[in-house]
Amino acid sequence: MINSKWLKYSLFTAVAFIMAALPFTLVGCAPGGGSEGELVVYNARSETFVKPLLEQFESEMGIRVRVLSGREELVNQIEEERNNVRADIFISNDAGAMEYLRRQDLLAPNDAPALGKIDQRFRAADGSWVGLSARARVLIYNKNLISEEEMPESLRELADPEWAGRFMITRGGNISMVTHVAALRKAWGDEETRTWLSGLSENAGAITGGHTDIRRAVGAGEYLIGLVNNYYYHLQLEEDRDNNVGAVYPDQGEGEIGTFVNVAGVALINDGPNKETARAFIDWILEDEQQHEFSYHSKETPLNPDIPAPEGAKPIDRYRAMDINLADLGPHWPDAKELIQESGLDLGI
Ligand SMILES: [Fe+2]
Repeated sequence: MINSKWLKYSLFTAVAFIMAALPFTLVGCAPGGGSEGELVVYNARSETFVKPLLEQFESEMGIRVRVLSGREELVNQIEEERNNVRADIFISNDAGAMEYLRRQDLLAPNDAPALGKIDQRFRAADGSWVGLSARARVLIYNKNLISEEEMPESLRELADPEWAGRFMITRGGNISMVTHVAALRKAWGDEETRTWLSGLSENAGAITGGHTDIRRAVGAGEYLIGLVNNYYYHLQLEEDRDNNVGAVYPDQGEGEIGTFVNVAGVALINDGPNKETARAFIDWILEDEQQHEFSYHSKETPLNPDIPAPEGAKPIDRYRAMDINLADLGPHWPDAKELIQESGLDLGI
């Protein structure tokens, strides 16, 4: 059932909603829009990872979940809907995006005790967003073509002529790339980050839309190395072929900055139509079982140290992560795209 409120959406949005909602078993038949019998989720993660959890919430709580799945553009959509808030929850792959929304006063503070399960570095100080799983930046490599000893130990090395044409990166506008650059700006400063990015984009053998193309091409031996999030390595290992790949966590030496760890998590939208249900959802997803599900489907590692990492995945306390409070990236995030463009790395392809 779609009530008139939803028909006010643009055609594109309405179609996306209907398509996204179709696979769900809708529980009950509560009227829409602020009935508290439903929850509206804007989801910027892959729907495959999120759908089982949302279906479980529907059946456990008897609440209808409407989901709109998309990518970075959902951030803009939430901004545009500021005076007519439609979403209750934003699920994101990116702390930068969530913190950006918080700074625009688009998220609601939350003091739920369950938030204490997650280290302060990985959530907003006001509890309005919280990370659940870790996404570390790693270098995936083809073991047939290069050994671990020969691999660059630092991301800085990729800007050296030695690596020209031998590695792959995503387009600059890929959200993982944008937030990674925001973190580097904070660690290195703008000048150094810009210079490094120029070298990186000049040297890259290929620049792709997303990371799936990278893991596949590296697996197939088209390139030696790719800069990806850790779970792409685990996904490639699971392939029937082209799976002789390894992963190096860069910048791990004594005194080095460590690799950048972003998070996937959930944010509470300010003044959403179903406020109580939205808070209940955050509490629910912070329960151990749901945290486990949230991480494992995507091969990420749980941020909650009480929950074991998936087999073969490096637990978060076993490598050096950049010592950055993710919420501090907020001010660095919008300008990161500008800096990326200035460096010569296109946002799109
Ligand atoms: Fe991804």
